[in-house]
Amino acid sequence: MNNLNFLDLGIHPLANAYLKKNELTKKEKKYRLKVNFNKKNYLVKVISFFSSKVMFNNKYPYRSSMSQTMLKSFARLAKKIKKMAKGKILEIGSNDGAFAFNFNKKNIVCVEPCNNLAKITKNEGYRTYNKYWNFDLAKKIYKQNGKINIIFSSNTISHIKNLDNVFKSINYLLDDNGILIIEDPSLVECLKKNTYDQFYNEHIYVFSFTSLNHALKKHNLTIYHIENITTHGGSTRFYIKKEKNKNCKIRNTVSKQNIKEKNMGISKMKTYINFAKRINKSKIKFIKIIKDLKNRNKKIIGYGATAKSCTILNFCKINHKYIDYFIDTTPEKQKKYTPGTHIPIVKKAKNINPSQTIFYLGAWNFLKEIIKKEKKFINNGGKFLIHTPYPRII
Ligand code: TMP
Repeated sequence: MNNLNFLDLGIHPLANAYLKKNELTKKEKKYRLKVNFNKKNYLVKVISFFSSKVMFNNKYPYRSSMSQTMLKSFARLAKKIKKMAKGKILEIGSNDGAFAFNFNKKNIVCVEPCNNLAKITKNEGYRTYNKYWNFDLAKKIYKQNGKINIIFSSNTISHIKNLDNVFKSINYLLDDNGILIIEDPSLVECLKKNTYDQFYNEHIYVFSFTSLNHALKKHNLTIYHIENITTHGGSTRFYIKKEKNKNCKIRNTVSKQNIKEKNMGISKMKTYINFAKRINKSKIKFIKIIKDLKNRNKKIIGYGATAKSCTILNFCKINHKYIDYFIDTTPEKQKKYTPGTHIPIVKKAKNINPSQTIFYLGAWNFLKEIIKKEKKFINNGGKFLIHTPYPRII
């Protein structure tokens, strides 16, 4: 048996399909969220696919710049890149320019399929291709810009189904001495932290070193350095070169990661079967905590209407009866409702009584940033509900 659907998370709406009030009575697009492990290519993937056009459209609500954590992480990496290499940079999935704006507009080319986001970088004078990443686009970019020295992509490659096309296109456009930097949520962290909310329709893959390495090898691309970073609840940043490029030496971070993954059984079916067992327990506990809080007349407010929380709430069937509303800093989400569970989203919480209120951390991956912001609430006895590594009140 090479292929196993190890986790069934039930019926879900599309994670970023926030609803307007007048859409609440309409039928939502739904799918069965099952997660698969393939022993041949080591990929962990969501088995239902939607076309990129359905998911990444002109009203895409996710904005990287909404979090100081992401902005700082991109600023640090940009500084490193400026020291590391010279030449033209390309960003695949440039979102609202959170990374690109760290560079002079002459030095970076942006690729962003969502028109509402592409407009933001375009309006600042950054060359932006409002297109999906594929081979035709790579050819067009080559014609207009020549070979690229650094290609960067954050939280985007894991959203594209056809990895062979992705890497073939990158290989074509990347200079022979160029560097590809990819960062995406880490499967190792997901397994360790029981963060099953990394799985939803947009996150087609959650990569390990083992699976990404396998996918890259077919295209003569080699991982030469790895950084484990904290963004998105634990991500891996891979530094990749062409196999023939002898300038970048393979660092021991690669063998360390390989050993770590072997030790935790990343290529074994049993690892995923055990993960699924933990997730089913997590669901029972999460529901119990929420029901207990309601029995004690506590008010539960969602903190960060994330795509991740869409998975948790729909899996655990927690709707507006349990969570009064979500707060979220993203203008595109405010005055809308969460997909499937129809919980209203507002800008700010009002008249909070910390002893009566629990914030459910939809944006648990920004815990540090949120703790800093919510000092007053915490100092007055306010608590948070979090589901990782197991559901609890903190
Ligand atoms: P993400 O987990 O997919 O990155 O989404 C984070 C969401 O949380 C995004 O919609 C912005 C929101 N958010 C807040 O509302 N307040 C905050 O303090 C932070 C850090 C994020």
